[in-house]
Amino acid sequence: MTISSTPDGVTVKPRHLRFDVRTELRTLWHGNDAFRTAFFNALSLQFPDGEQQFINAVRLYRDQITDPKLKEEIKGFIGQEALHSREHKEYNEALKARGYDIDALDERFRKHKDNRGLLEANLRELEA
Ligand SMILES: [Fe+2]
Repeated sequence: MTISSTPDGVTVKPRHLRFDVRTELRTLWHGNDAFRTAFFNALSLQFPDGEQQFINAVRLYRDQITDPKLKEEIKGFIGQEALHSREHKEYNEALKARGYDIDALDERFRKHKDNRGLLEANLRELEA
């Protein structure tokens, strides 16, 4: 689809929100539940790479878009994902400061994924 289907009046614009979670990450911040806290902390580790994959996937097709509204939405989406990535990087750095071996976990995660190729293949399939 090369025409925006976003309803009139709805825009895709980056929101420059900042979150300082360093204090909360020293606790079992998710309902005082160790599993839920660890689960969502682990989820955050994957977000910077995941957000970058979203950006890369959209960039692959950006030049084919002619609808000005959709082009603007793509620009907003890329900006928004970049901001998400920044916040998750800071979140992950806070976990690192807390003692988590983030570098080892990142390395392990990267060895076991090839989501970029899968995402791109799925987008091509949707386009066909
Ligand atoms: Fe995002």
